[in-house]
Amino acid sequence: MKYLVTGGAGFIGSNFIFHMMKKYPEAEVICVDKLTYAGNLSTLKDVMDKPNFRFYKTDITDREAVYEVFEKEHPDYVINFAAESHVDRSIETPDIFLQTNIIGTSIMMDACRKYGITRYHQVSTDEVYGDLPLDRPDLFFTEETPIHTSSPYSSSKAAADLLVMAYHRTYGLPVTISRCSNNYGPYHFPEKLIPLMIINALHDKALPVYGEGINVRDWLYVEDHCEAIDLIIHKGRVGEVYNIGGHNEMRNIDIVKMILKELGKPESLITYVTDRKGHDLRYAIDPTKIHNELGWLPKTKFADGLKKTVEWYLNNQEWWENIISGEYQDYYDKMYTNR
Ligand code: NAD
Ligand code: TYD
Repeated sequence: MKYLVTGGAGFIGSNFIFHMMKKYPEAEVICVDKLTYAGNLSTLKDVMDKPNFRFYKTDITDREAVYEVFEKEHPDYVINFAAESHVDRSIETPDIFLQTNIIGTSIMMDACRKYGITRYHQVSTDEVYGDLPLDRPDLFFTEETPIHTSSPYSSSKAAADLLVMAYHRTYGLPVTISRCSNNYGPYHFPEKLIPLMIINALHDKALPVYGEGINVRDWLYVEDHCEAIDLIIHKGRVGEVYNIGGHNEMRNIDIVKMILKELGKPESLITYVTDRKGHDLRYAIDPTKIHNELGWLPKTKFADGLKKTVEWYLNNQEWWENIISGEYQDYYDKMYTNR
């Protein structure tokens, strides 16, 4: 079997490549990635020289280049992780989100139609459902929850999901969609909450908590997400959406405090800063469908996963030091100075 993974030099895509290559040593894995600021070839160094792995530095919005890859590789499965993924950046520059997340998705599916595939899988997000109130812990996102987006990021992902369902209905493309809650784990880009707080704490820098820190996210260890996608592409029903989440709701401030405790750093590093515009209050997934249909359950408890993640950042300083020494510094100054 041949799996084409887009966005495989990013956080979840790279973890998915490692998962697949370990679990299916006979499989061929093709990575297509533009290597934006969020993509790192060094992340893939352990698989780069394997005979059953190939990397293409390709932009999914470049139709000709994408078709060339399909012409050469003829993949069986296409799993589309490639995206602009950071809400804060989408508030500053929405345009690139529309290009990659919407146009890129349609070009990937056009290639699938042209060359023929067994399955196209769209890696979507729970953010397409908008947010839930903080005072209604009884409410969860199900696959039937209406799309109701808040940020340019989530709107672009929702638009892509609609296109995916349209390609299924109109052209009969064999698609599946997964909508996962917030991931954490190794190779998470340091602009996102958990790695940003770990790295700032290690440098004894202020930890910028938006608003009052009471927004709630439903956190899932990245390997659990990868296992869920593996199940969906092989056993999930074509044309279906599957929510992925582990009933692990946490307030931002509580996570930040856990990180400080893990690193033995003082809570005085916490600094409350101006809230994100349109900040979603609470995400919470109901994963009943994927559990009942595919038997999926998350394996990693949050306390263990966070411990492992903190250890990973301590043991892999070179990986993130290279990142934060570059364009990241300009981004950080722009977003956080005098906030
Ligand atoms: P990421 O930002 O770490 O990685 C994105 C990757 O896509 C990078 O390697 C980047 O170079 C690549 N890319 C960006 N634009 C491209 C283009 N035009 N052509 C080819 N490659 C391009 O993102 P992530 O956190 O790994 O997220 C992966 C996917 O999972 C995204 O689709 C995201 O919406 C979704 N998702 C993420 C989370 C999360 O918590 N991180 C949760 C649910 C869903
Ligand atoms: P983030 O990791 O950007 O993921 P998402 O917005 O997709 O859920 O942010 C997670 C939560 O942490 C979100 O409520 C915003 C908050 N946050 C901060 O409080 N400070 C920060 O510096 C960042 C990056 C996020």
